[in-house]
This record gives sequence, C-alpha cells and structure tokens, in this order.
Amino acid sequence: MYHTNELTSLEEELSKASKKGMKIGLVPTMGALHDGHMELIKQARTHTEYVIVSIFINPLQFNQTDDFLNYPSNPKKDYNKLKNAEVDLLFSPDAKLIYPKKPSVKIDFGSISKNLEGALRLGHFEGVGIIVMKLFNLIKPNFAFFGLKDLQQYVLIKNLIKEFSYPIKLIGVPTVREENGLALSSRNVHLSPTGLTIASQIYKGLVWAKNNFESLQSAQILVLKLKNFYNKQKGLSIEYCEILNSNTFKPIKSLQVKGRITLCVAAYVEGVRLIDNIFLKE
Ligand code: PAF
Repeated sequence: MYHTNELTSLEEELSKASKKGMKIGLVPTMGALHDGHMELIKQARTHTEYVIVSIFINPLQFNQTDDFLNYPSNPKKDYNKLKNAEVDLLFSPDAKLIYPKKPSVKIDFGSISKNLEGALRLGHFEGVGIIVMKLFNLIKPNFAFFGLKDLQQYVLIKNLIKEFSYPIKLIGVPTVREENGLALSSRNVHLSPTGLTIASQIYKGLVWAKNNFESLQSAQILVLKLKNFYNKQKGLSIEYCEILNSNTFKPIKSLQVKGRITLCVAAYVEGVRLIDNIFLKE
C-alpha cells in the first residue's frame, strides 16, 4: 500500500492508475477504522480496480472543540488494517495542507441540511461539504463510498454530486452492526461494556418500529410509542427521533404516504452521541 500525506505524490500515483485505465474508488474517513469502514473498502474493491482511503479528522465539521479533540485516532492500527485489506493508497494529509487558511467560501446545502444533524450540530454539514469537495477535486474518483448510517450526509453528498455535475458514482453502503444490533461507529470506543449494551437498545427500538409501523396511521403516534420504549431504557437519552422522506429528508406526518420513509434517531449513552436509522419503507 502506498501512503502519502502530500499532493505531488498523490497526483503521481493517481495518474499512474488512470493511465492503466483503472477506475478509482474513494473511501473518505476520519480514521479509527472499524468493520463498517472495512465494508466500504470491500465494496470499493468490488466496484473499482484502485482503492484510495483518506484519513483526515476534519476540524471544520465539529461544532464543539471537545468533540474534535476527543475524536478517536489510532494511525498505526489504521495503517495495518488498510494494508491487510489491500488498499492501494492511503492519503492522510494534515490540516495545514488541506486548509492553508480557513476557507472563506461557505457551502449551503439548503433545507435538507437544516433539520436533525444540521439543526443540532451547527456548521457540521457545511464542513463536511468543504472537505468532501476538496477530496473529490484532488482525487477525482470514479466512485465514492459512503455509509448509510450517516444517511443525511449521504443524501447531501448525492445532491452535491448531482448539482455540481461531479462525474462520480456514489455508492451508499448499508450499516454494519454488532451481533446485538448496535451500529458500528468510531465513537463506540468511548463506551463501557454496560454502555455498549444500553446503546444496542437504539436498534432494538428501530426494529420494533419497522415491525409495527404498518398498523399505525400517524408518524406522531409511532414516534410517541418509540420514545416511550426508549425512555424505559436506563442510561439512554434520546435527542431526536424523526420520521422522514428518505430522499428529501422532509418530516412526514402520515405513515401511509407513497415513497421511501426513514426513521432516524440520535441518542446519548455515557455522554457519547450516537446516531442510527432504519428504512421503514424502501
Ligand atoms: O463520514 C465521515 O467519516 C466524515 O463525515 C467524512 C465523509 C469522512 C468527511 O470528513
């Protein structure tokens, strides 16, 4: 695996791959790699001949300094995982290379970025937009792989690619879970064994909702019942629980509407913020 943190060798390696007619697949990450990332890489391997993983903890997408400073990082372990997964190139730039100065341009994704994560983590998606565009411009991948656990992010990137005419095929990769259903996340390392068990109730609630939503008319009732279930779980504190159109991310009222519907949840366990979602109707 070729590893670089600078631009000249990145360009050289990518141009060698392109000259060989290889399709380039980008898996953007912030490191602390887990099996969810490994699944993105596996998908990248099946779609493309040349897989590049970026690791960059993007300061612009954190709205709280503590969250940024405490974000898990394990470069050595990550390197070995990527090497074993036969990744072709690891790009791990430092902040000075990516942001020689704080960008003055702002990216506004419009209404789709104003609820859920966008409402609670002000500036988060604007920061994601800037780093993703930078990576797209520097790497020019043919394919890009994003996890569906961050569904709102996935939908925003889909819009970005379409509206800015990036010649990139976006692949959304289903969430990888622990045996007990807990969605894999880099933040799970901050949870104790008890915390991990409590956190697994998030997915239990989502599955309950999926199994029961057809017998209910209104989204409000489903959310109320689900919140009741979550409130009974000691140590679990729900931040939001919302039912939305999967493509527009607009909240929906009736569960009988046509089209894809998603239920999204954010919760705290032991002070760790976790998000998850389930497609109620696909
Ligand atoms: O999903 C993530 O890990 C990050 O938001 C991303 C896409 C790597 C941008 O920093």
